[in-house]
Amino acid sequence: MERFPTLFFVAGVGCFAVAFLLSLVLPAMTLGNYHDMEYRTMEQLAAVPSHEFLELERVYPEAFEEAFGAADSASYAEALQLGRDLYVGQACWHCHSQYVREVANEAQRFGAPSRAQEYQNALNQPHLWGTRRVGPDLSREKGVHTNDWHVAHFLSPKNIVPSSVMPSYAYWFEADGTPKRDGFSIITYIQWLGTEEGRGEE
Ligand code: HEC
Repeated sequence: MERFPTLFFVAGVGCFAVAFLLSLVLPAMTLGNYHDMEYRTMEQLAAVPSHEFLELERVYPEAFEEAFGAADSASYAEALQLGRDLYVGQACWHCHSQYVREVANEAQRFGAPSRAQEYQNALNQPHLWGTRRVGPDLSREKGVHTNDWHVAHFLSPKNIVPSSVMPSYAYWFEADGTPKRDGFSIITYIQWLGTEEGRGEE
């Protein structure tokens, strides 16, 4: 009888050790060729400005020139980086995830499940998975709405979706709705999300 406590102790620690190892091994298996993944730098990501970025220049020529000069890969990189910084600084990630899971038919609403390779780039260091979904997942947000929609929505989410609890970001825009540098940048970043989809799949 006296040896029993020791036995239980060892068995208990053993169970924890097995669970600990499994929680390391199983997720690692889902990553597949993680070590071979190509890391994409900002220059690579911004090599070709998106058509949404070019459209912002066309629709708001004066404001755009003041904010970024001309639309090229250098200004596109600048806008993407600032957009991401705003996303972090304003805690958009507090209400939005950037991770489509393989469960609960998420793909039907948000698009293809996220892959590890999509996070191997300069705009995901660190990644912005988020922990909550007060609003929808934004992993595949590119092209879901037009630039105009985003202008109206950031000015006043409630005007577009009456039940929305998303705050207004009207200070990123002039009174007439013309984006300032921050407004251009957040829209450019949002219209980039999902661009890396499918990368690294065999
Ligand atoms: C308090 C929570 C909250 C915060 C903070 C928040 N949002 Fe939202 N967001 C929502 C909700 C709820 C919706 C869905 C209703 C709507 O469209 O307004 C939404 C919708 C959106 C949509 C439209 C998604 C779609 O596909 O229709 C975008 C884009 C978006 N948010 C971007 C942002 C960005 C960028 C920020 C930070 C600058 C931000 N949100 C901050 C709650 C939030």
